Amino acid sequence: MKSLVLYESKYGNTHKVADAIAEGIGGKICCVSDFNPTMLADVELLVVGSPIHGWQPSEDTGQFLTHLDREVLKGKYVATFDTGFKSILSGNAASKILTKLKRAGGRQLMATEKFVVEKAEGPLAPGELDRAKAWASSLQSEYNRIAHPAPHFV
Ligand SMILES: Cc1cc2nc3c(=O)[nH]c(=O)nc-3n(C[C@H](O)[C@H](O)[C@H](O)COP(=O)(O)O)c2cc1C
Repeated sequence: MKSLVLYESKYGNTHKVADAIAEGIGGKICCVSDFNPTMLADVELLVVGSPIHGWQPSEDTGQFLTHLDREVLKGKYVATFDTGFKSILSGNAASKILTKLKRAGGRQLMATEKFVVEKAEGPLAPGELDRAKAWASSLQSEYNRIAHPAPHFV
């Protein structure tokens, strides 16, 4: 599976999660502000992660989403995650990102995921990098199941 993980990170926590996911799926990784559409050429799965800022994706992530061309993700799978506080008032950036990626033609591979930080600057809560690795592993298996189903012998 050819994959790209895009992230934004003010204090480095989302970057750490993005690194763990990219390593887990054997994908490339790029900061969202350095993104250019040629990076999508062979990509089969695009993962986008952002810190939650005021219940929304971060500003650079929002810019990236605003400039995504219509249908640029057609035929590609997408998955999203966010980082933020463990609180019911935390908000959700990942689902907002997902909606925009789907509007650009992306097909949702899995449910969104959230990774918890203890304070705004971090650190990540204990075990969150292991959860990120586990999520990456689920992305890989779900992709294999959906996109390349095992041949069915009779
Ligand atoms: C301006 C600002 C607004 C924030 N708003 C929220 C929020 O609405 N909900 C939340 O859970 N966390 C919020 N946070 C905490 C961030 O989500 C946290 O800083 C982030 O997960 C850390 O990731 P990073 O190190 O990649 O920047 C906010 C942080 C900042 C700096």
